[in-house]
Amino acid sequence: MDKLLIEGGVRLTGETVISGAKNAALPLLCAALLTREPVTFTNVPRLNDIGTLLKLLSQMGVKVERDADSVTLDASVLDNPVAPYEMVKTMRASILVLGPLVARCGEARVSLPGGCAIGARPVDQHIKGLQAMGAEVAVEHGYVHAKVPRLKGARLFTDMVTVTGTENLMMAACLADGETVIENAAREPEVVDLANCLVAMGARISGAGTDVIRIRGVERLSGTTHRIMPDRIETGTYLCAAAATGGDIRLTGTSSAYLDAVVDKLMDTGCEVVTERDAIRLKAPARLTAVSIRTAPYPAFPTDMQAQFMAINAVATGAAMIRETIFENRFMHAVELQRLGADIRIDGNTAVVQGVERLQGATVMATDLRASASLVIAGLVAEGETVIERIYHLDRGYERLEEKLSALGARVRRLA
Ligand code: EPZ
Repeated sequence: MDKLLIEGGVRLTGETVISGAKNAALPLLCAALLTREPVTFTNVPRLNDIGTLLKLLSQMGVKVERDADSVTLDASVLDNPVAPYEMVKTMRASILVLGPLVARCGEARVSLPGGCAIGARPVDQHIKGLQAMGAEVAVEHGYVHAKVPRLKGARLFTDMVTVTGTENLMMAACLADGETVIENAAREPEVVDLANCLVAMGARISGAGTDVIRIRGVERLSGTTHRIMPDRIETGTYLCAAAATGGDIRLTGTSSAYLDAVVDKLMDTGCEVVTERDAIRLKAPARLTAVSIRTAPYPAFPTDMQAQFMAINAVATGAAMIRETIFENRFMHAVELQRLGADIRIDGNTAVVQGVERLQGATVMATDLRASASLVIAGLVAEGETVIERIYHLDRGYERLEEKLSALGARVRRLA
């Protein structure tokens, strides 16, 4: 089990590059199922989750070609519209093949993803939407089995804002007969990136980025080439690492677009943030001011940045309140941060963080992707050495982490 050894106390300075967005790449790769023609994606991040999804697609019959940061998928032959439990259990976002498979093949058997460390993660809204579009859906023996000769356009209203739910239903609606309207749709930038690619493939979509998305079904879609948007959460994570260490960094291949809520909060901590065309620069003060946050769907403060802000509040001046409103169990990093000396009190979905002078290095355990990122940030600023165990969580969402951190001056290395 790989571990990460970090020697804390180094200000991050210099420049590194941001990769393509994991949470845009995952739905985009699934969109290739909607057409018989090849689809090429560039700026594809080299992440374990991407590798898992490409394996899942190829066992369905999709031809996968990978070269540097580009991936070409050819789904002309789909002879096995099944997503088996063995593969889905390691990567929940596999549920994103459900909508495209039903739309393209008229049938799909997809293992229920099951929960993860941060919550139960049900997919009832995905199922409800497909049923409203005429699919017969049975959930049996741990699988979602959906069948329909052709989906019909419908008016869909999701009970809560769901990112992959919106993405699944938007993809399914592209080949449905008639118009589909998704109300209460997710407005995340990754939904917009997916819509832009689908439109380039010939889909007729309007309203992506708002809470009402209209999709007029077409007979078939064509291939295209699409560049994946930069990873806004990776960007925010490195900005937090620089903020916590009193650093001065520049991130290229990205921008502050889609990060307004995060940049606002970083400026409230006393950081200077400068946005360039495709780069972002942050200069941190010697000591941060604590800042309270409340997570909510885009464009509000993203839940995927909550753990990172708990880490920076742990060493800031003053106290901060952190409210997590999206997932029911997304404070797993708090107990690990306490091992490093953080003063955090949890009460339901609220955490009160009292900044301390300094954290002490220790051995801690990663529990989920963003919790791991928060432990990395804490380790960078803690006194002495921090060892983070189970960093396979990190490898799911942060490409070449040690390399990028070392480029910024961090003293970090992987222990086999
Ligand atoms: C996406 O997950 C992201 N993953 C998550 O990022 C992100 O935290 C989340 O959106 C919220 O922004 C990908 O895009 C691959 P939801 P998703 O459906 O779509 C409940 C990361 O760290 N819900 O928007 O699974 C759900 O339980 C990951 O990169 C239902 O009840 O999240 C949650 O409480 C973690 N029924 C809330 O809605 C449903 O059918 C929002 O979930 C669907 C969702």
